[in-house]
Amino acid sequence: MPDKKAGALAADRSSLGHKVRYALRNPARVVPYASRALRDAALRIRHRGDHVSYYRAVMASDTARDPKAAVGSQSEKRWLALGQMQFDYLVGHGLSPEHRLLDIGCGNLRAGWRFIEYLDEGNYYGIDISPDILASATDVLAERSLQAKLPHLTLTRDLTFSFLPEGRFDVVHAHSVFSHSPIEVVDEALANVGRILAPKGFFDFTFDRTEGAEHHVLREDFYYRTETLVALAEKHGLAARFMDDWEELPHGQSKIRVSAE
Ligand SMILES: C[S@@+](CC[C@H](N)C(=O)[O-])C[C@H]1O[C@@H](n2cnc3c(N)ncnc32)[C@H](O)[C@@H]1O
Repeated sequence: MPDKKAGALAADRSSLGHKVRYALRNPARVVPYASRALRDAALRIRHRGDHVSYYRAVMASDTARDPKAAVGSQSEKRWLALGQMQFDYLVGHGLSPEHRLLDIGCGNLRAGWRFIEYLDEGNYYGIDISPDILASATDVLAERSLQAKLPHLTLTRDLTFSFLPEGRFDVVHAHSVFSHSPIEVVDEALANVGRILAPKGFFDFTFDRTEGAEHHVLREDFYYRTETLVALAEKHGLAARFMDDWEELPHGQSKIRVSAE
């Protein structure tokens, strides 16, 4: 497993020491972080114990400000580049136009619009917990003149995939979704994805990797060890492979591919 960012991989971002050092290095970020922490604390009280409702409220607040920033891109240029990176990687690693693709946490189609353009009509299925970001996704569809491709965009409240047919998807993709998910949500997805995967199908997901203690920041960003996620996939009868060449790309997260073998 390449070690592209040894310092970052060891850091515990939830520790006070890390926060103080970070604040000293980035004084301009202290006030925005404090206001985000206050907002998130209020949202966590309102949605006590229900991560999906909490994160949906985070997305509603972020999307109202700027839909592209809500999915993690601070500019149009970065939004386009991050979508291109996902698209190029997946096409280079097995995606073909006739495949049926499920995009979990599709957001406002940062990569999705490129998948929709590339895939045969009706073969793209995007799901998300946030109605606000899905509304923004429909704007992107219209802006890109992709109506005739008839993609499916569906609001979901969990990752059981219970409304989707068995053996349907050649490719399942989740970019920057488990990086915002507690382990119960990841577990639910891995417990259920096998049912909807086609016989030779695979599921690629990114995650925020740590080689130290697993931790989270504001219950918005979750850091996992690779072996935790590999073991979880194996517990659900899936084979898991760390995607080494994704590490070479200019992206902070890591990627795992799981398949039913
Ligand atoms: C950082 S954005 C990434 C969006 C998209 N995958 C992309 O790369 O542009 C994370 C997205 O995942 C969605 N999300 C978070 N948790 C989810 C869950 N448990 N199920 C489905 N979607 C989820 C959020 O609403 C948000 O749209």
